Amino acid sequence: MPRSTSPGDTCGVPEDPLRHAGAAPSRHPAVRHHDRLPLPQGTAGLTVRVRREDSYRVHVVPGPAAALRTLRGELAGRRAALITDPVVHRLHGAPLAAALREHGLLAGVTTIAPGERGKQFGTGGRLLDWLAGVGLTRRDVLIALGGGALVDTVGWVAGAYMRGVPYINVPTTLLGQVDAGIGGKVAVNHSSAKNLIGAFYQPHAVISCLAYLDTLDARQLRAGLAEVVKKAVIASPELFAFLEERAEEVLAGTGPHRETVVRAAGAVKSELIARDPYERDLRRPLNFGHTLGHAVETATGHGPVLHGEAVAFGMAAAVRIARAREVLAAGTADRVTGLLGRLGLPVRLPELAVVPEVPRVLAALEKVRQIRDGSLRFVLPEELGTTVIVDDVTEEEILRALDHAGPAGPAPAAGGVPCSAGG
Ligand SMILES: NC(=O)c1ccc[n+]([C@@H]2O[C@H](COP(=O)([O-])OP(=O)(O)OC[C@H]3O[C@@H](n4cnc5c(N)ncnc54)[C@H](O)[C@@H]3O)[C@@H](O)[C@H]2O)c1
Repeated sequence: MPRSTSPGDTCGVPEDPLRHAGAAPSRHPAVRHHDRLPLPQGTAGLTVRVRREDSYRVHVVPGPAAALRTLRGELAGRRAALITDPVVHRLHGAPLAAALREHGLLAGVTTIAPGERGKQFGTGGRLLDWLAGVGLTRRDVLIALGGGALVDTVGWVAGAYMRGVPYINVPTTLLGQVDAGIGGKVAVNHSSAKNLIGAFYQPHAVISCLAYLDTLDARQLRAGLAEVVKKAVIASPELFAFLEERAEEVLAGTGPHRETVVRAAGAVKSELIARDPYERDLRRPLNFGHTLGHAVETATGHGPVLHGEAVAFGMAAAVRIARAREVLAAGTADRVTGLLGRLGLPVRLPELAVVPEVPRVLAALEKVRQIRDGSLRFVLPEELGTTVIVDDVTEEEILRALDHAGPAGPAPAAGGVPCSAGG
């Protein structure tokens, strides 16, 4: 077994013998490794075992002062490079950067294009150049201050720079706080598919500042709520009932309801990713609404339809498929689409900000099918808190769900694996 010793564990050797007389005191204590590995016997192949476990805090704080305090705690004296977008920089980044500079913690600040325009391979390359230019080291930390697209991009760059430097997500959109900021799925888009270029790389911490949401426009807020509805449908009937009761107050930002929503949705996401952090089977209920949602985003050129809006439409379409298969009760289907509608989210194709042509949506789905070794998975709700994941949805069912040309007759029984998100 390899063995490491620290200065407190010197195995009888005089402490720090590598230090020569007159040498400058070392910043890092010497660590000695003892190995006596035998020659391998036989010709059997080798197995490399690598285990990795990540855990990190998701802080929900009321305002910028608490955000700074929490950030300083998480940085623990390390320098930070702050990456944001010009809009967020003007609203929230500049004062944060000034405070970090004041405390001697700022290595540099830069901005990338807002939203999906910044979530590109080229942006990643430019950020890597910038990090090398400011001399960021493995000891330093990246801070991603912005919406979901920005945290996805910065997380991906953090994973690539020096084979991985720590990064802290400070999501400034509701969607970022309840979803994108948590879970370490980092990526940039490719023209052929959303999130095609990416990895799993967990943040060092997540800091969600509720006051940042006050500057979000109503459309962005609604889009964020779509991801909250998603979590409520797949895993929390209680959160769903809360949203039904408080939807308007959450939108208006009155009372403590936004905090409840950010905490509750974050808790659902943390619980579900802990079960399958690397999405090995690609069957997570968290993908509810995403099969058609991503296809809509790709078919409309990543951007004009907000991610949350596309997911809302995807969820409504999945509900229609589930209804047509008779795996979901009509009353529950109406509650889900009714809540989405009340939140001002699109549930039918013509309600999208840009209406994609159906053949383009099908082509985008086909691309996903190719990437996913020939199968296209849909997460269908069976009841609140229970989903079934199927890969046998036919093109006809998809067309009916896209068109919403009336209820479809019962289709062949779903062949998927029931997946109770609540259990
Ligand atoms: N990694 C994941 O697990 C995950 C999960 C869900 C979504 N996503 C990704 O998140 C992205 C969508 O994120 P989004 O909905 O946050 O939008 P976004 O990041 O695309 O855009 C946010 C927009 O709002 C502006 N903005 C951000 N914060 C603001 C604030 N506080 N006040 C005013 N304006 C502000 C930004 O300048 C930008 O224009 C998509 O790319 C999606 O794929 C990732």
